Order: sequence, then C-alpha cells, then structure tokens
Amino acid sequence: MKLEYLNKLIIGGWQLSQGHSDASQMEALKVLESYYTAGFRVFDCADIYTGVEETIGTFIKAHGLGPSDIKVHTKYVPDMTILNSLTFEQTEAIIDRSRSRLGLEQLNLVQFHWWHYPSGNYLEALDSLKTLKEMGKLKKIGLTNFSAERVQGIVERGIPVASIQVQYSVIDRRATKELERVTQANDIQLLCYGSVAGGLLSDYYLGKNEPKEPHENRSLTKYLLMVEEMGGWDALQAILLVLRTIADTHNCDIASVASAYCLAQPAVRACIVGARNTKHLDEHVALRDRLELSNAERAQIEAVRNQFNDIPGEVYELERDVEGKHGRIMKYNLNKV
Ligand SMILES: NC(=O)c1ccc[n+]([C@@H]2O[C@H](COP(=O)([O-])OP(=O)(O)OC[C@H]3O[C@@H](n4cnc5c(N)ncnc54)[C@H](OP(=O)(O)O)[C@@H]3O)[C@@H](O)[C@H]2O)c1
Repeated sequence: MKLEYLNKLIIGGWQLSQGHSDASQMEALKVLESYYTAGFRVFDCADIYTGVEETIGTFIKAHGLGPSDIKVHTKYVPDMTILNSLTFEQTEAIIDRSRSRLGLEQLNLVQFHWWHYPSGNYLEALDSLKTLKEMGKLKKIGLTNFSAERVQGIVERGIPVASIQVQYSVIDRRATKELERVTQANDIQLLCYGSVAGGLLSDYYLGKNEPKEPHENRSLTKYLLMVEEMGGWDALQAILLVLRTIADTHNCDIASVASAYCLAQPAVRACIVGARNTKHLDEHVALRDRLELSNAERAQIEAVRNQFNDIPGEVYELERDVEGKHGRIMKYNLNKV
C-alpha cells in the first residue's frame, strides 16, 4: 500500500500547464530534465493540467524510463457537468487517456477529486477506479481534497486508499483538525500542496506590498485569498519575519523553511512543490537533502501563526462553495474526453 518515495519532495506539474505558464513544451521538458538529473523521481500532474501528462510522457519516452525509474502521480478529475451521469466507461476512457498520454501501461497513482459531494455518487466512481486497479490499469488509488469524514467513509467502502493530497502550510492548517488523525489511523500517506502558498511564503514577498490585481497567475489569486482568511497581508509579513530568522540559522531561504515546517509534521509524508522553471532547483535540492527543523523552531512558527485566524472549516471546505470567492476562481470543466 505504501508509496515508494525516493525523497520527500514531489515536483508539481500544474505550474507547467498551458494557461498557467507560457513555457513551451521544450522548456517544460528542460525543467523535468533538470529536476530528474538532480535526483527528483516523483512528479505530480493531472488529467486537467493541460499538456502536462503529454510532456511527462514525452520525457519518459525520450529517456526510455521504466516504472522503477520515475513515479508519476496523476489525478482523475471528472468534470462538474458529468458528475450526475458518470459511468464506468467514462472513467475508464479518462484513465486510458492518461495511460496513453504518459505512455504507461499502468498508472502508478491516480488521485481522485470530486467537485461537488451532493452531485452524483463519488463512491461509485471510486468503485470504478478499484475495478480498473484490479484490471491492472493503475497501481494505487489516491484522493485529493476530501474531508476527514469522507475519507473514513471511502475506506469503510473497501476502497484501498494509498494517499491524499491537500493544501497544507503554515497558513493553511485545516488538515490538522481531523484529517491527520484519519490518515494516520488508516495508513494513508498525506501529501501537501501549497506549502509555499504559490510563492507567497518566500523571501520575494518579505517587506513588499501586497500584489495588486490582475495577478500574474491563478495560483497567486488562490493563495492570496487564504492570506485574507488568515488576517491579511500584515499577518503574512509577521510570519515571514519569523521564517526569515529561522532561515538565517540554516543559511537557507524562507520558502524552504515553510516547506520544512510541513515536512516536520509527523503525519506528513511529502510536499509537492511547483516548478515552472529551474530557478528554485538548488533550494529544492538543499531542502530535500539537508534541511530539518528542530522542535523549538516548529514551536516558534506555531507561536506566530497562532496569533492569527485559523482557516475556517475542513480541508477544501471553503473551495467547495462554488458561489463563494474561493470556489468562483476554479475551472470546473477541463476534462472533455
Ligand atoms: N490537488 C489539488 O487540488 C492541487 C492544487 C494545487 C496544486 N496541486 C499540486 O501541487 C503542485 C504545487 O502547486 P502549489 O499550488 O502547491 O504551488 P506552490 O508549490 O505553493 O507554489 C509554486 C510556486 O512557488 C514559488 N516557489 C517554489 N519554490 C520556491 C522557493 N524555494 N523559493 C521561492 N519561491 C518558490 C514559485 O513561484 P515563481 O515561479 O513565481 O518563483 C513556484 O512556481 C502543483 O504543481 C500540483 O501538482 C494540487
């Protein structure tokens, strides 16, 4: 059941998708090449990250890589418009399309996302994934953005859940409310995205004014909304200052301390960090190989974080409100087969 990671950092592909980045496939391939050469072996993508499965597939083919050389974590994200009528055949077609794009006979990990709990029946969609696993089309089933209670229900249905990825950072500690306990009780690996909040938790923003709209990408818009929930730009600055003092001790950058904070949590298995180019590669290598926070440093971060608001609700609860400010910025139908 366990995911066999070679390291605790997974390289995220959303930042290489068309619409998020203006990187050409050639540039995206160079990013993959550089990270692979630096020893990174686990790459996260999704059926809805436009062009990314194809790029990773091209990379795998060009280098003749096999399942033991590289682990690709993809996602299965059925469109909002088909949730009420989703069939096994539609699920199979999307999984087959990922296999074909990646050039893999068997997908290593498929992380399942469901936009809207009341629409359709996500447990039946998971039954379909389980059947496809039994058919050998995928090795492991993961989840993304499900609440603790839903994860428990999914496990009780008999779905073998290997992992769940959720937003988790110094800013967003919603997973600590209940999800961490459920993942630990069920031997589910917890993977964090947003550990550097799209770059907001980095030296680049220390002492700067809040970025004004239009933002450079959707990621900034998304994480700025989280900063707003926490208490705003001044709250972020107070946290950045504490992260900076810890970074000084380790002779590293703020973003690395922010991810190391997540990695120091007993329930967390790995962080997924986004890379749209190679400018942070050296920091990512150092974070993977050297950086570990002491309990005192974790406590220092928690002390400053506790001065501000908790993000309300369970993991992904704010984002599930399609009319709310977090839900309105999502793109719900990117997965036409
Ligand atoms: N399951 C889901 O719903 C979900 C949602 C979001 C993301 N994800 C996954 O998680 C991955 C990461 O996405 P994310 O949203 O979590 O983004 P993130 O990793 O929080 O932010 C990525 C951005 O942060 C900046 N950054 C990264 N390392 C840095 C460093 N050491 N120093 C300074 N800046 C640094 C870079 O911005 P600049 O390039 O501007 O410097 C980079 O593009 C995605 O690619 C995707 O695979 C999953």
